[in-house]
Amino acid sequence: MTNSTQQQMRAIILYDSRTSGGSTDRLIDSIGQELAENGAYVEKAKCKATGDYSFLQDFDVVIMGAPIYYLLVSSQLLGALIQSNMKKYLKRKKIALFLTCGSPEPMATLLYLPQLKMHLVRNRILAERIFAPQQLSDPEVIESFVDELCDAYKKDTRRRNASMQWTDEALELLESVPSFFRNRIKIATEEYAEEMGYREITLEVVEEAKSETGGL
Ligand SMILES: Cc1cc2nc3c(=O)[nH]c(=O)nc-3n(C[C@H](O)[C@H](O)[C@H](O)COP(=O)(O)O)c2cc1C
Repeated sequence: MTNSTQQQMRAIILYDSRTSGGSTDRLIDSIGQELAENGAYVEKAKCKATGDYSFLQDFDVVIMGAPIYYLLVSSQLLGALIQSNMKKYLKRKKIALFLTCGSPEPMATLLYLPQLKMHLVRNRILAERIFAPQQLSDPEVIESFVDELCDAYKKDTRRRNASMQWTDEALELLESVPSFFRNRIKIATEEYAEEMGYREITLEVVEEAKSETGGL
């Protein structure tokens, strides 16, 4: 599920389903495929309520979704948000949400999406979508969800690039980092600076961001 381009979005699909090879599994493969065709690097991970989510540090965007069973978002995803370190590693991540369910969209938006969104009040939600059974294999619906996500991500990146100034010293430090990590560190530092309301990235801001983001 990968495709390499410069400055590419690094996305992970965090999902859950009780049904192996079911509709959710097929949907995430289609979403992953569509994202890769849009130039993103994509991985997927099935949730465990007690898992270790420190690997989320490696991604810019977290796409999170699951089916509804008996009025609740599938238990391993919901459980992970409550019991594990997932929320800690979701800090400052851009999110996209999807649900698969049999209920009409207004009901799902009112009853089911808030079960995820209540844990993500400080995150930027790039896109959200309820997939009805007949939409799960509809390429146009999947494409429009991925397009919405990618467009919002690009807009955010352009806005951030336009508003952030790096001092010469900070830029020199960034350029001394191996190229493989440079873009990740640039994004993480700018996102930290943006959250803190800084407009200029100095050496001090780089250090501050480094200690806050665990080195990324
Ligand atoms: C046991 C069971 C309970 C379900 N409960 C609900 C529900 O409460 N509300 C709803 O909208 N859909 C419900 N559905 C529909 C599923 O959310 C939907 O079919 C989903 O696509 C299943 O995903 P899966 O194939 O990955 O298991 C339920 C399905 C099953 C099998």
